[in-house]
Parts: sequence; structure tokens; C-alpha cells
Amino acid sequence: MEIRVLFIYQSSTKIMLSKVATNDGHAENSAYFDGWKAFESDPYCPAKNPRGVIQLGLAENKLCFDLVQEWVVENPSASICTPQGSQDLMEVAIFQDYHGLPHFRRAVAKFMERVRGDRVTFDPDRIVMSGGATGAHETLAFCLANPGDAFLVPTPYYPGFDRDLKWRTGAQLYPVMCESSNGFMLTRASLESAYAKAEEQGIRVKGLLINNPSNPLGTFLDRDTLRDVVSFINDKNIHLICDEIYAGTVFTEPDEYVSIPEIIEEYIGPINLDLIHIVYSLSKDLGFPGFRVGIIYSYNDRVVNNARKMSSFGLVSTQTQHLVASMLSDEVFVERLLRASSERLRRRHNAFTSGLEQVGISTLKSNAGLFFLMDLRGLLKEPTFEAELEMWRVIIKDVKLNVSNGGSFHCSEPGWFRVCFANMDDETMAVALKRIREFVNQIMMRNGGVNNSETSPPKKKCRGTAERSLIEYIQQRIKKRPLPSPMQFERLLKLNTE
Ligand SMILES: Cc1ncc(COP(=O)(O)O)c(C=O)c1O
Repeated sequence: MEIRVLFIYQSSTKIMLSKVATNDGHAENSAYFDGWKAFESDPYCPAKNPRGVIQLGLAENKLCFDLVQEWVVENPSASICTPQGSQDLMEVAIFQDYHGLPHFRRAVAKFMERVRGDRVTFDPDRIVMSGGATGAHETLAFCLANPGDAFLVPTPYYPGFDRDLKWRTGAQLYPVMCESSNGFMLTRASLESAYAKAEEQGIRVKGLLINNPSNPLGTFLDRDTLRDVVSFINDKNIHLICDEIYAGTVFTEPDEYVSIPEIIEEYIGPINLDLIHIVYSLSKDLGFPGFRVGIIYSYNDRVVNNARKMSSFGLVSTQTQHLVASMLSDEVFVERLLRASSERLRRRHNAFTSGLEQVGISTLKSNAGLFFLMDLRGLLKEPTFEAELEMWRVIIKDVKLNVSNGGSFHCSEPGWFRVCFANMDDETMAVALKRIREFVNQIMMRNGGVNNSETSPPKKKCRGTAERSLIEYIQQRIKKRPLPSPMQFERLLKLNTE
């Protein structure tokens, strides 16, 4: 009897929840998030868990934390919970205006100019706060679209967009298909084609969402493409949301990256500025995703006003605003940090990608962001997303690396995997590289029929279920691979015996 009562109670509480709360719009049950869970349940630690999963699936920027920590220690008044900062405690703690602290908005506007090479200006009065870029995207979608309306978005794209722009707003994303044959370039033709297809299907296109530099490509759009983008949205009279969250994580010559405000400032011809909105955050360029500092910068007064009202649901705490404002107002520090960050990212990116090249794995040429795309198309059983997922499972379960499969990013071709490279130390990167090499090595060795045990020094063998399934997978694969050349063999043998 008691059990029956409990059952009735549970099923009625389920009915009581809303459609939004119970639908799958968060996409938590996807390979992308499963990879994170696999890491969390078995995290790599060189001392305590050397066979654990290495996290290559999280776009975090940890390479300059020593500099940030140093600054915090040297500037105790910036933190209101220190003897030096406590004089500001009350003023900061009671502030609740959703416009944000004036010195915070000024400092953020200045920082946004700095990361774009001081070639553009931002008006602090147009800075609207949000809970990270995540909150900024949702707020913009609420402001610009009705349920059912769509935003075009070039593929591959950051999986979080599905959650941020669609889940609670009811808006849709409509893919603009881009392909590896031209480096996943965005073209006017692909934009026109996606727009026409959406219209044919009776979908109302309200805007275009671009991410520049792009997650997961690690590349940025050139000036001509950005001009095309602006002219496209202008001609169609639709909105442009430009996610520039990686504007400061560019590691080529600083002048090469072009942002949307620059295009606007130099654009020849009439342009409706009311259509253009920028999303920014401090999660990537400064590596502060935990601070949840997101920014909407709109050229449209009505969007600024409405987004600001909506920001009541996702304000940045004044304690964080205060600290960030002090830090970003220190121009000498900001300059040093940005330079060091760019240099360290470049070095890490080059070390990782050239380590992969040594075993014949190529990557999409990139120069920005905290990741690159690794090309494993040649190792797939067959060119399908099922085969990609199968390989992804082997990589996570047996190779013990959490990389993210291209399918999670709506990539048009199977076999691309995103590797994040800035969330670990050099030693962990070396272990990750070694694991990838071993994985590829084994496929190649078996492929050539070489008896590994005859040519390599004896290795400690410990064949658990995971290793057995890895070997089975490789055995299946080798039947389909071409033989490596003698030179490739020699190199692989050398790596294998190192
Ligand atoms: C392109 C892009 N936009 C938005 C976000 C979300 O950023 P935030 O942590 O500021 O919410 C991410 C996070 O990875 C991202 O890569």
C-alpha cells in the first residue's frame, strides 16, 4: 500500500513540470557532454590516477593564471574581502542597479577595444551585462526572435548554441553548410542557399549568428568575408549576432584579426546598424568562465534597453564587477597579459599540432582560440557519423582522451575531432600526445603486419577489457588501411621504442 502511494506521488510530480523543463533542449545527453562526464568520473592525475581520462574537451584558458594570481596578490584592494579592500565593501555589496557599476562598464569597453588592437571604439553605455556569453546569447534570442523564428549559423558550430539560443526561447538554428575543401570558409553563396532553403520550408529567418574566431575551427574570417556577411544581412534585413568571445585569443600577428566593429566603421554604403549585435565574455580571453562575465554590445538602442531589463535574470555580481574593473583598468598589466597569452597559446598550439604531424595526423590550419580540429577521417571504418561515434568511444574509453567529435558541432563531414590545448600543463600535453601516437602507431603497425613484440623492447602488458576492445577495434581497422611507406614505418618504430 505504501509503495502504491509513493508511485502515484512520483508520477504526479512529473506531470507538474513544464514542457521547457522536461524537454531535451539543454542537450546534456549528447556525446559532447558525455565526454565531460567520462572525464569527471575518471580524471587523469599523474600521481594518483595516471591511467585516467585527459580532458581535451574543455575550452579553458589556463596558460596565464600565474600572471593573474600575481596581480591579485599585488592588488589586495581590488578584492573587497581583504583588509585593504574592505573600505569599499558596503558600497559594492549594496549596489543593485542592473546597468552595472559605471567603472566596470568603462573598463570592459576599454578592454574590448584593446583586444581588437585599439582600432575600434565601444561606448560604455551600450555595454549590457549577462551571465557569461551563454546568457548573452539567450537574451539576444529573446530580444530578436519569436518562437519558431530561425537564426542561420555556419557549421561546424559550438554545441552550446543549441542550448543557448533555442532551448527556452523556442527559436531555431538553421545550418549554413561549410566544408573542409575550402577550410570551412563561409561564402555568400552558402548563405544565400541556406536562406533560400529555410524560406522554402516556411521558416522565418530572423538573423545570422557567426562566431569569429570560431569554436571549433580555431580560425577567423577575413575582411572580405565579413564585408559579405554585413552586406548579406543588410540586403535581407535580418539581424547579425557576432560572437567574438575569442577576439583576444588570436596568436598570429595582432593586426590580422578583424572584428565586426572594424568592418562597420570602414563600410562603404548604407548599413542598418540597428541590425548588429556583438556577444563577448571574459571566459576565454582572460580565462574566467567562473566569473560569468558576459556582455551584449548592441548598436540598436531598443535592444540595449530591452536586453538591460532582461539582464535582471543574469547579473554579474558586484564583487566580480569591482575586481574585474580594477584589473582591466591596469593597462600595463592588461598589455602584459595579452602579449603573454598570445605567445603561450601559439607555443602550445605549435607543440601539440607538430607532435601530431609526426605520426601523420594533420590538423585544420588554425591561428586562434583554445583548440584545433584533428583530422582522423582516414582512420574511420567508413565515412559515416556512426563510425565517427564508434571511434570517439574507443578514444574516450581506451585511449582515455576526451576529445569532442565533429558531429557534436554539426560538422558536415565525419572524422574531425576537436582538441582543446590550453587547459593543461606541458607534462599532461606530452602524455596526451603519447597516447594519441600509440593509438595511431598500433593501427599502422598491425596494418603492415609487423610483429610489434619482435621490434620493440618488451612493454608491460596489462590487458583489461578496455585494452582488448581497443585491439579489436584496431584489428577491424587495419583490414581497410593502406600500407605505410618504409619511411613511415621507420619513424613509427622509432616513436614506438622511445
Ligand atoms: C563560441 C562560444 N560562445 C559562448 C560560449 C559560452 O561562454 P561563457 O562561459 O561566457 O558562457 C563558449 C564556451 O565555450 C563558446 O565557445
